[in-house]
Amino acid sequence: MARGVRDSGIIAIDGTAASGKTTLARRLAEHLGYLYFDTGVMYRALTLAAMRKGLSTSDEANLTELAERITIDVRAPSEKDGRPCTVLLDGEDVTWLIRSEQVDQLVSPVSVFAGVRRALSAQQRRIGLRGRVVMVGRDIGTVVLPEADLKIFLDASLEERARRRHAELKARGSAPALEEVRSSLAERDRIDSGRSVAPLRAAEDALYIDSTRLNVQEVYELVEALVSTGPAQPGRAGKATEGSQPSGQAKG
Ligand code: DC
Repeated sequence: MARGVRDSGIIAIDGTAASGKTTLARRLAEHLGYLYFDTGVMYRALTLAAMRKGLSTSDEANLTELAERITIDVRAPSEKDGRPCTVLLDGEDVTWLIRSEQVDQLVSPVSVFAGVRRALSAQQRRIGLRGRVVMVGRDIGTVVLPEADLKIFLDASLEERARRRHAELKARGSAPALEEVRSSLAERDRIDSGRSVAPLRAAEDALYIDSTRLNVQEVYELVEALVSTGPAQPGRAGKATEGSQPSGQAKG
């Protein structure tokens, strides 16, 4: 177990869309030999299943029933095509299908419902409690695993996140206009932060990191240092990063 991570080795990484959570979590998990678990893929797989059934994003009863019925499996990558993990929806490989622009647009509305969240969070918590895990999402430190040993809240300006996501999409061969990417991210953050159940926000004891002016390596080094030197103190990252705000005050 890493020296600075107490007890069972549960690391929670929450934050806004495209803030770099996935990259940070993957590297950290690899370094520590922990399981990398991105909970967003579960909401995305459910959204894909709902789209295929033609369900409306306001159909709470059927979305909840679907969330309780489908089987979502997250496994080690089955292909060497850049995927961080393989996502199976009732046995079908949907790893790339859940990254479509349509899923991007519908996933936040689908994620607001209490029944949907109850079904998916229960599975996430069960996996997380096994320990030695880096879990990524919006409500891991606040709701899914409030007992996490280390909680990070990662953020960056909307402008910078849009720029990074745009470059990522371009590299994958799809190139929506930058403005389109920016407004889609802003809309997702608005819904994720404004929902009444488990809204996106930093836990009281989370370290808030603003990565607007930090590159991937700098963010990683900051967190890696915390993991190996001792339990994090709330607000500590605020001193080490540019333009950060006190922990517990997530931006929308
Ligand atoms: O991290 P991501 O962009 O793949 O997440 C997709 C959406 O899933 C996100 O906009 C809201 C939802 N989500 C959530 O509500 N709670 C989580 N723990 C993870 C994701």
